Amino acid sequence: MKKDLVSIKDLSVKEIEEIFALTEDLKKNKEKYAQSLKGKALALIFQKPSNRTKVSFSVGMFQLGGLGIYMGSEEINLGVREAISDVAKTLSRYVDGIVLRTFGHENVVELARSASVPVINGLSDLSHPCQALGDAYTIKEKLGSLEGKTLTYVGDGNNVANSLIYCASKMGLNFNIATPKGYELDKDVVQSAKEFAGLSGAKLMITLDPRKACKAADVIYTDVWASMGQEKEAQKRKKIFKDYQVNKKLVSCAKAGCLIMHCLPAHRGQEITDEVIDSANSVVFDQAENRLHVQKAILIKLLGQA
Ligand code: CP
Ligand code: NVA
Repeated sequence: MKKDLVSIKDLSVKEIEEIFALTEDLKKNKEKYAQSLKGKALALIFQKPSNRTKVSFSVGMFQLGGLGIYMGSEEINLGVREAISDVAKTLSRYVDGIVLRTFGHENVVELARSASVPVINGLSDLSHPCQALGDAYTIKEKLGSLEGKTLTYVGDGNNVANSLIYCASKMGLNFNIATPKGYELDKDVVQSAKEFAGLSGAKLMITLDPRKACKAADVIYTDVWASMGQEKEAQKRKKIFKDYQVNKKLVSCAKAGCLIMHCLPAHRGQEITDEVIDSANSVVFDQAENRLHVQKAILIKLLGQA
């Protein structure tokens, strides 16, 4: 049966560990995998802009001996020019996998249901699983392990935050989050994360207080205050989120040497200051690089079997 990557919720701890182990080998022995996806093609359907996701998946396929085919929002016009199920069934006759970046999460679910090839969520309004897997791998790489470490997220309880809490709660990584009132994480996501944390031993803290959340953090993570599709709310959000900026003062609440993470793109001067994102403890470009390696592992796992 084909396997999709729609949400980290659907991955087992073992599957995540296997992705990380393969990522490590891909980083060490790149040439060994140069033919792993020879003759395979991946369609990339993007309804929103992208730098990292588009380029890392395209280059990832190239480095594995396969082909990435990018289609912007005008081309496919998902659900308008053609029903999602028809797009899924057509592309399944041509390619070996599909990455979708979209608005409603239900679009990824429907594409995965209708396609006979694996579907990978390249970001929806609800989640960004490839990002969180790359980030957790980066934390493991930098700190040696996830279990018992504390990741603090400050800002909007958005798609990236939802995927991070899933990954952290599954992998025994403590997760603190501070958001303004009304911008909390998705309730169903929190409910599931609590269940996963019960199994892994991860401690979760959900608060409105960024200083409290950052206390004893090994990693501080933030993301934009207005995500793609929320541009009209940007001015309003700037006022609401002003006390949630990751600046030097907030970072001083955390452990000395605390890592700084951001999925990028960053709005410098808003959710994070130049001083912090450019500091010696910032690993934002290592995170960006690891998207490539982790996604190559995901591609091999999902598209690799004959
Ligand atoms: N972090 C991330 O997904 O970046 P892009 O939007 O540039 O793909
Ligand atoms: N939360 C951001 C993440 C971008 C990678 C957005 O959805 O725009």
